[in-house]
Amino acid sequence: MANIKILKLSMVSLIVVCGICSYLYLSLVDKSRDYGVATDFDPMLEQMVYLDRQEHLNKMCRLYLKNNSSKHTIDDLTTDVELLEHILVDLNHRLLYCYVPKVACTNWKRVFMILTGLANTSDALSIPAHVAHKRGIFLTLNNFTVPEIKYMLSNYRKFLFVRHPFERLLSAYRNKFDQNHVRSSYFQSRFGRYIIKNYRTNASKMSLEKGDDVTFVEFAAYLTGPENVTFNEHWKPISDLCRPCLLKYDFIGKYETLYTDSEYLLKLSGLLSSTFPHLTKPSTTSAQLRTYFSMLSQNVITQLYNIYYMDFKIFNYDLEGILGFEIG
Ligand SMILES: *[C@@H]1O[C@H](CO)[C@@H](O)[C@H](O)[C@H]1NC(C)=O
Ligand SMILES: *[C@@H]1O[C@H](CO)[C@@H](O)[C@H](O)[C@H]1NC(C)=O
Ligand SMILES: *[C@@H]1O[C@H](CO)[C@@H](O)[C@H](O)[C@H]1NC(C)=O
Ligand SMILES: *[C@@H]1O[C@H](CO)[C@@H](O)[C@H](O)[C@H]1NC(C)=O
Ligand SMILES: *[C@@H]1O[C@H](CO)[C@@H](O)[C@H](O)[C@H]1NC(C)=O
Ligand SMILES: *[C@@H]1O[C@H](CO)[C@@H](O)[C@H](O)[C@H]1NC(C)=O
Repeated sequence: MANIKILKLSMVSLIVVCGICSYLYLSLVDKSRDYGVATDFDPMLEQMVYLDRQEHLNKMCRLYLKNNSSKHTIDDLTTDVELLEHILVDLNHRLLYCYVPKVACTNWKRVFMILTGLANTSDALSIPAHVAHKRGIFLTLNNFTVPEIKYMLSNYRKFLFVRHPFERLLSAYRNKFDQNHVRSSYFQSRFGRYIIKNYRTNASKMSLEKGDDVTFVEFAAYLTGPENVTFNEHWKPISDLCRPCLLKYDFIGKYETLYTDSEYLLKLSGLLSSTFPHLTKPSTTSAQLRTYFSMLSQNVITQLYNIYYMDFKIFNYDLEGILGFEIG
């Protein structure tokens, strides 16, 4: 008899608990709808995806850097000017953004201008790209004292956006060498001429002077070749640019899910998710990946893979879906 009573009681409480849960869940979902984002937004499911990314990164960092980690501490970081200048600071919303060129960095810088009050608009796309890229407009960690840097690193929300390493590399090549952007002239004279001189037999006088017709094969030969390579921020591995194994970012966004991730992050920070602009012209790089990489030898692809090895591992990318085969 007593058992049945207890059973009844626990069933009733189960029903009550379930009711409260679904009420809370529905009100969360409703709230997300208020922001006017995708209607299939599921906060719990999304959160799982982001936690998985962080967990994977931590696992890989432990695996690959276990012998090294003791040598690199937060104290070393506070003297690493290049890293500090890569991390933008939003004091109002307590955000730190490690910007990675070729991963929606222009749009995130535009959003940062709005968040930090540098732009007097709510329409990010109305901010010209060259304004968002102007040197010295943002506060970076380099503008702060060591105790301030340490405080922000442990109390602010740190985030970055990543992308398939080969897609990012191809995007950098296409943007700086392949398409005749006005702003590519720096890259053509700084790198293009050097690459043609060292990696093209019988280069024409004009190519040697202008450096404006570097092929993807030559660019890849330069990156993997015996000459001294300079890893400009546009093609430097993200693991070197942002040091994710040491900085323990709170949020890892991916280019492949750019809008969902950006809107989630803004919402998480109590901001309007609509601040993040949607591109008018989607990137065509991913569709061209196979074409460009089929020009490279297996050996060069393997060497490129080794250069971006940590980015592949810690951000969980592979070659299968891109090239149709896997390395190592
Ligand atoms: C230590 O780190 C450096 C770069 O940070 C890397 O080149 C080297 O392979 C690492 N060594 C080990 C044993 O992980
Ligand atoms: C790295 O650490 C492991 C143990 O964690 C050790 O067995 C190995 O010899 C170390 N490798 C180097 C290059 O120090
Ligand atoms: C900036 O925005 C405020 C409020 O929307 C407006 O009153 C002001 O005129 C704007 N300033 C400029 C320089 O556009
Ligand atoms: C922040 O530091 C940069 C150099 O890293 C400097 O150019 C800029 O003027 C500084 N900004 C402020 C507000 O101090
Ligand atoms: C380079 O140019 C020279 C003379 O114009 C020519 O004889 C030679 O065959 C060319 N070599 C290659 C690899 O095209
Ligand atoms: C390669 O290294 C040499 C000597 O260190 C330097 O003079 C040259 O400018 C470097 N080339 C590039 C493209 O960085």
